[in-house]
Amino acid sequence: MVIAGPGSLDLAKSISKNLNVEFIEPELKLFSDGESKIRIPSVDHKHCIIVQSLYPPIDRHIIQLLMMIHKCRRDNASKITVIIPYMAYARQDKVFLEGEIISISVLAELIQNCGTTEVITVDIHNELSLSYFSITIKNVSAIPILAEYLKKNKTIENSIIVSPDKGGTKRAKKIAELLKLQILCLKKTRDRKTGLVSIEENLGLVVEGLDAILIDDMISTGGSIVKACRVLKKNKIRNIIVLCTHALLLDNALEKIINAGVQEIISTNSIPNICSKVDLAPILSNVVVNTN
Ligand code: R5P
Repeated sequence: MVIAGPGSLDLAKSISKNLNVEFIEPELKLFSDGESKIRIPSVDHKHCIIVQSLYPPIDRHIIQLLMMIHKCRRDNASKITVIIPYMAYARQDKVFLEGEIISISVLAELIQNCGTTEVITVDIHNELSLSYFSITIKNVSAIPILAEYLKKNKTIENSIIVSPDKGGTKRAKKIAELLKLQILCLKKTRDRKTGLVSIEENLGLVVEGLDAILIDDMISTGGSIVKACRVLKKNKIRNIIVLCTHALLLDNALEKIINAGVQEIISTNSIPNICSKVDLAPILSNVVVNTN
């Protein structure tokens, strides 16, 4: 059975349809102090597939996920597969400044200690995070379905794939190969204390008249994309489309990005919003089938 977390109702429904299995929407109550109460009918000894994306309110979504896992374990579920399309806290995967806590390792411990058998996630920020899990975790790439969407819906012949930073090179290369396009990696630096981002304006490549397909794993405040757009526009890029797996779109990010000259933002439905045009359900269902 597929159990929908409050953060992923539609995606969970779609996965249950793809798998042709029972769908359960838990009863949710939010108390005035912010606590969640969740009711799930008995799952007996079934294989439970819980779907819950960890976008804001992140900590609430995490505790709801842990409660659902806990309930399935108490009901002696035969297996607990947890699908976390957007894995929060994965950006702190190492100690950058002395005294910092590796938050993804804390989250990993909580998820597995509650009784999870296996985890499936999508385009985790850095694969290093996977090493903090001691249970099976599969990191699914959304790049092929994002590429497919572009091929079907956009004219991309005059485009160049752009990664806003070096960390995104592998991702950019992969989609560039699928779409048979050229690639450019911008040189982004982030001040670890202030969080301020800057991007080198000299690209070392003539891009005048080309269209850009900017690709990132996530858009949070939109700061990186806005800075990248400024640099690209200075270098006389024509149109810009932004592609990402996880569109968090915090602090008016959508408005800021559109004002920076972006035509369209295309993301998966790991986070349901106006930009989530690419459905993850088919690939997530395939992963479940192929591992069981
Ligand atoms: C950073 O390394 C990530 O890949 C994203 O570029 C970043 O998290 C996006 O954040 P924001 O939208 O706040 O710039």
